[in-house]
This record gives sequence, structure tokens and C-alpha cells, in this order.
Amino acid sequence: MSLAPFPAARYRRLRRSSQIRDLVRENTLTVDDMIWPVFIRDGDGVEEPVTSMPGVVRRSVDKIVDAAREAADLGIPVICLFPYTDPSLKTKGCEEAWNPDNLTNRATRAIRDAGIDIAIMSDVALDPYNIDGHDGFVRDGKILNDETVEALVKQALSQAEAGVDIIGPSDMMDGRIGALRTALEAEGHQDVTLMSYSAKYASGFYGPFRDAVGASGNLKGDKSTYQMNPANGDEAMRMIARDLAEGADMVMVKPGMPYLDICRRVKDQFAVPTFAYQVSGEYAMIQAGAQNGWVDGQKVMMESLMCFKRAGCDGILTYFAPEVARVLHSL
Ligand code: PBG
Repeated sequence: MSLAPFPAARYRRLRRSSQIRDLVRENTLTVDDMIWPVFIRDGDGVEEPVTSMPGVVRRSVDKIVDAAREAADLGIPVICLFPYTDPSLKTKGCEEAWNPDNLTNRATRAIRDAGIDIAIMSDVALDPYNIDGHDGFVRDGKILNDETVEALVKQALSQAEAGVDIIGPSDMMDGRIGALRTALEAEGHQDVTLMSYSAKYASGFYGPFRDAVGASGNLKGDKSTYQMNPANGDEAMRMIARDLAEGADMVMVKPGMPYLDICRRVKDQFAVPTFAYQVSGEYAMIQAGAQNGWVDGQKVMMESLMCFKRAGCDGILTYFAPEVARVLHSL
């Protein structure tokens, strides 16, 4: 019997039913992969929408506790706190950053006191407290490195005292990981984990976040003297190597979707816990597309997160975390 011409390879055989597709699927997105960034503001019982991030709100501390409980119930392992600091508390010296009673520290203690079973991550950088809107101190139009690192150490120690589990330095000053690790060790916080924003790019995708933390109005100029040039990939590998040598436990690439090549290179080269931050602008674009009916919001959300797993990430910071958890649980 002679065979009719046939395709040499029938790849569609492995796509023909959901069972077979599931059997050969290479990557899985789970609730365990989620870190949920939330915004804190002062007041009581307040949930205030962030206009440029549909679905995201700024919460007063009591509502942050509710959010943490909801996240824990959904199985989300980590909540990440970002403060919207009242403009009257912003100064040139950024003293509010290490106030033991600032919003981040109060929220941390409130979540802990409520006995909620969730890990707490905090952000180390001066921008929410800085009258200049930058992540570091500004003098004569320059961002000061070493003076800023000293302040970041004070900020991180106040967060460790309040009880955070993971400290995320997002400032991009040189030497901060080593300085933070040394100070945490010296002060009895040797179990506090450092997730370094190692490859953090000077990105246009942070716009909505700066609205959310109220830093847009203050910021003069851009952050390109400390955040990385989007044109560079090798430099990211040097940043990761440096931060690991200084004591980072986990590393992050930020933004996420436009930098998947960096995620993959980091995982392949260093084989360390690797995270991506799907930032505010990425979130806002997806929500805008969905709200206009231009894309299927849920489908695009899931696809936009699966791509990080494919690129080698162990987890993702995403504003979609609770929504994703609900989708995954309903399967
Ligand atoms: C600043 C910081 C930024 C984000 C997290 N920490 C913004 C910036 O560097 O200007 C951005 C997160 C997002 O866009 O979702 N320390």
C-alpha cells in the first residue's frame, strides 16, 4: 500500500484535546507565583481609586489589613506595601522614610497584629517621601549616591523592626545591597530577605505608579542617571552579579513584559530566584484595552503572566494578583 503524501510532522496531534494539551504543557502559572503590590494612604475606612490604574485603590491601614486577609485567603504568599505619603510630610531630607510610625511600618504592624498568614514585602527608596520626587537625595541637580545609601539603611532597619519579611530596594543606588545586608546582620535581622530590584530600567511604564504614590508632581527631570538604559542587556547581568555578591537573596527585573529577554538571561546565567515586576503602565495598558473592549481582559491578563514563567521567572509582582488567584481557583 502506498502512502499518500502527508506532513512530515503533525504537531497538531499534541494540541487536539485539552487533556493532551495539559499533558504536554511546559509551564504553569499558580497562585504561589504572585506578589501583590498595594498602596497605603492615611485615614480610616478609605479606599480611593487610582485613576490611571483602573481597579487599583489606595487603602487606609485598616483596609490594608482587610486586603492582606483577602490575599492570604486566596493563597497569595506575599503582599508588597507602597505608601502614598501626605504632601505635608515630604521633605528634602526624607525623614518620614524611617519614621517608625510611617504608613508602611504602621501597615506592617497592623497586618502582623491581626495574625494574618502572609509574608510582607516593603520598598526601600526615598521617592514617596522626597520633595524632589527622586529615589535619592538631590543636591545641585545631582542624585547623591552614598548619602542616599545611609538613609536607605535607616529606612530598611525601621521596616525590619516593624516586621517585614522581604525588603525590596528599588532605588538603584550603588552599594546599597551590601550596606543593607551588613546593617541587617548587625542589628539582629539576619533572617530578613533582600529582593533586589537589580535590573531596573529608566522606563516610561512607571507613570501610573508615580500618580499612585503621589510622586509625579514632585519629580523634576528623569531617573536615567541611576536607572538603567533600556538599550542595555549585558549591563543587567553585571548588576545581578554585583547584587548577588553583596548579599541579595532574590533578584528582580523591572518592568516585566518589555524585558523578558533579560529575565531569561538572568535565570540561565545565575540560576537564582528571579522575579519580574509587571509594572503600573503594563497593568494600565491591559486594563485600558479591556475596558474599551479591544482585548479580552482575562485572557490577556493570564497570557501576560504566563509569559514570565516561560521566561524563567519564579514569581511576578502584579496588580492583577487577586484577580488571577480568583481565576485560578475557579478552574
Ligand atoms: C520607585 C519605584 C517605582 C516603582 C516601584 N518603586 C517607580 C519609579 O522608579 O519611578 C514602579 C512600580 C510600577 O510602576 O508599578 N522607588
